[in-house]
Amino acid sequence: MAHPSPARPEAPASATVSPPGGRGVGGCRRDFPILSRTFGGHPLVYLDSAATSQKPQRVIEVEADFYRRLNANVHRGVYALSEEATEAYEGARARVARFLHARDPAEVVFVRGTSEALNLMAEVLGRGPLKEGGRILLTDMEHHSNLVPWQLVAADRGWELDYVGVTDDGELSPEDLDGKLTRGTSVFSFTHVSNVLGTVNPVPALAARAREVGALTILDAAQSAPHLPLDVQALGVDALAFSGHKIFGPTGIGVLWVRKELLETLPPYQGGGEMIMEVTRERSTYKDAPLRFEAGTPNTAGAVVLSSALDYVEHLGYDRMAHHEQGLLKEAWEGLSALAGDDLTIYGPPLSRGHVGVLSFSLKGVHPHDLATLLDAEGVALRAGHHCAQLLMRRYGVSALSRVSYGPYNDAEDNRAFLQAMGKVCRLFQRP
Ligand code: ALA
Repeated sequence: MAHPSPARPEAPASATVSPPGGRGVGGCRRDFPILSRTFGGHPLVYLDSAATSQKPQRVIEVEADFYRRLNANVHRGVYALSEEATEAYEGARARVARFLHARDPAEVVFVRGTSEALNLMAEVLGRGPLKEGGRILLTDMEHHSNLVPWQLVAADRGWELDYVGVTDDGELSPEDLDGKLTRGTSVFSFTHVSNVLGTVNPVPALAARAREVGALTILDAAQSAPHLPLDVQALGVDALAFSGHKIFGPTGIGVLWVRKELLETLPPYQGGGEMIMEVTRERSTYKDAPLRFEAGTPNTAGAVVLSSALDYVEHLGYDRMAHHEQGLLKEAWEGLSALAGDDLTIYGPPLSRGHVGVLSFSLKGVHPHDLATLLDAEGVALRAGHHCAQLLMRRYGVSALSRVSYGPYNDAEDNRAFLQAMGKVCRLFQRP
């Protein structure tokens, strides 16, 4: 089967982007102790921030401080230490609400990460408002965490699933949106930013269209949170999820924000301690949101550390980070194109159309896993594989891609090391 070919790599960033300098945004690289490690005698060149971000020292310290000074179970104890821990946990919820411009901290549910948030939404919609059926619209650029949860519940509830296709340039197909985001759609769940293509979807416009046809919108913000400021009012969605570990916080903590009017109508997700009002042999009654959705002892330390990571990201500043990443992206895009010519294919929209600091590519005749292994020998860490986006791989007729993704701690020296290593790969495989 012939597959439409993706964008050719001759579309560099807009002329206004300057080359990246320094050692990261405002010299922030020094904040990240892991970046001083070496591998096989080479300094670590970490180009896999879309998989997980590295952690600054001040955020690492908050975790140790929590366990040193504050650790107790929350919402249970009447003693002072438990009250302090509860205050820290609820303070973290309020911090997340401010970060998202939410109207009320009670709209913020702490979860393990984006995957759990999306599983939660699919599950409670299936036991609540959509238990009699529904039509769920997804897209071909979704990460598996925004596909599989819907498929799991669809089988039980008889939901119809449909998918918006992706253009050669890595954007959502306007024809499919017209034909599929129609009345009768119950939920439109889609990603803000593609983890493979770097595409930034026009969320406010998509959410407005969904509202017009009576569909709820759920936004996977896992890949946007590290790159773009999130304002749930301006985005106009009904629910949004992101993970702490991609935004300089720890693993195992994430956020599900749900508009209050919707959240209040949803049944509990899991059962257990602290989510109930009363339990009898016959039945239980449940607390209001958000505690109704947080059964068991929560990841208190994770929430507190996440709030310090949000302080850190706002201290760096989204504008400065975006400017810096665009410079790195342009430099790598042009450098790769010069090295590999027609043997290179870059996937995703041109930078001028909105493309965050993620660069997926293939090099003719070189398997991405071989490429990643050769780069690893030079200390360069990048991701190779299907990127948990097999619909997208199928769309472009590939089984795997190589991907570079930037954080604010990367700089021109990282790009130099990456391009030098890529030069060796090209010579080894005689490409071009
Ligand atoms: N979703 C993460 C990535 O894209 C793991 O690498």
